[in-house]
Amino acid sequence: MKLLHLLMAIVTVGVTLPASAAEPIIIKFSHVAAESAPKGKAAAYFKKRAEELSNGKVKVEVYPNSTLYKDKEEIEALQIGAVQMLAPSLAKFGPLGLKEFEAFDLPYIFDTREALHKVTKGPVGAQLLRKLEPKGIVGLAYWDNGFKHLSNSTPIKSPADLKGKKMRIQSSKVLEEEMRALGAIPQVMAFSEVYQALQTGVVDGTENPHSNLYTQKMHEVQKYLTLTGHGYLGYAVIANKAFWDGLPSDVRSALEKAMSDTTDYANEISNRENELALEAVRTSGKTEIYNPTALELAAFKKSLAPVHKKMESRIGKETLEAIYSATGSDPSKL
Ligand code: LMR
Repeated sequence: MKLLHLLMAIVTVGVTLPASAAEPIIIKFSHVAAESAPKGKAAAYFKKRAEELSNGKVKVEVYPNSTLYKDKEEIEALQIGAVQMLAPSLAKFGPLGLKEFEAFDLPYIFDTREALHKVTKGPVGAQLLRKLEPKGIVGLAYWDNGFKHLSNSTPIKSPADLKGKKMRIQSSKVLEEEMRALGAIPQVMAFSEVYQALQTGVVDGTENPHSNLYTQKMHEVQKYLTLTGHGYLGYAVIANKAFWDGLPSDVRSALEKAMSDTTDYANEISNRENELALEAVRTSGKTEIYNPTALELAAFKKSLAPVHKKMESRIGKETLEAIYSATGSDPSKL
């Protein structure tokens, strides 16, 4: 009986302790990227703005580089409230049952960042974020990273060069299909494990925006990088819905403003960060960078175009058509 009372007291205190002025509301923000990557910089910026704008009522603890949770675990941790905020890549929502997000992984779906923003800053993007709510998640914003390129232990100039290559991908069926279309063998793996897998030859290669390749030091263990720009990698910033809805309204408004400022910042720095990372890879002299000819790029596009139709029933025809119509291009017809 005594033990039961003790347990009840612990549970009650844990749940109902009010946040007084002296006790800031803690937001644990976990992510898998380096502090120097675009997402790492944006998370640090959000911490600063959120603490400023809430006049210290909120304290944001940022846990970068998978120090708290890896990819799959972090979404589960958010749902049970062990952390309050995350910014997983859009390729990681499929396992939650939100297959529509995998549209962002389709090859060559966005020709430019402007085309991407037509989706992320428009009604299609907003509608996708609303789909998170039944999962106990609030979608707050999209943060850009950049376009992905192929790296490998051997030179890659055409899809034929990828035949039989083991390629690390994020947990997305579209990316699986993409690698198969190129003749490669896809291998889903947590981001935190990629460096070692490349180093030991568990996989031969992978795909990344330059900022991730460089800040995870993958260029040290990848001899060749081919500038294919064949897909996009960006993030949805998300929060535990019960936590977010339960915030005092002045605090929530301050956080919304902090998020809007941070989104502008994140989307402003991401392109440049990726350019700088490419230059840093070049300067390191560890990776040979290959710029494919127009003809070679056309061969990649031709191999990858069928992935759109193949994945149509998984993503949903309506979502796909809404995206094509927002961007003004339908790469399935390439
Ligand atoms: C990846 O797993 O390759 C990326 O999603 C990592 C990240 O969050 O940028």
